[in-house]
Amino acid sequence: MHIDRYERLFLYAAVALLVVFMGALAVSSFAFGIRVPTAYERVDPRTVATPPSPWGLPAEERLRELSPGNYEVYLLAQMWQFSPATITVPRGSRVTFYVTSRDVQHGFKIANTNINIMALPGEVGRLTATFDTPGTYDFVCHEYCGALHHTMFGQVVVEE
Ligand code: CUA
Repeated sequence: MHIDRYERLFLYAAVALLVVFMGALAVSSFAFGIRVPTAYERVDPRTVATPPSPWGLPAEERLRELSPGNYEVYLLAQMWQFSPATITVPRGSRVTFYVTSRDVQHGFKIANTNINIMALPGEVGRLTATFDTPGTYDFVCHEYCGALHHTMFGQVVVEE
């Protein structure tokens, strides 16, 4: 079968691009630990902030230590705040975030970690990060969610 020279070059270039993209995907997931967040479970956004839902607990009770150094936090996003807005854990903690929204689409990104997730009404996103370096890690909403979107932020405080 005859394939024109330029068409053949184009095919090679397309295949080479695919290889590059697959390589980038492999490096980001294996070398940098970036995982694609998927819906961990479904919830009803109308009742998600009401007990017995874990997002219905008072904000200060939504960070729980499951075993030494192993935490989970139920983080609720709503216009225009996160609760809890401050999460304090000791150095070396492994924290699993369960994130959902009770109104519109929000985002949740913690600086200098692999936590970057959508907060969607009706869906729970789950990601885990380990905080080995003490300090303050800012998190922000990175999906435009209305007039006060820019005021929607908080901090993970990692203590010595
Ligand atoms: Cu919430 Cu932007």
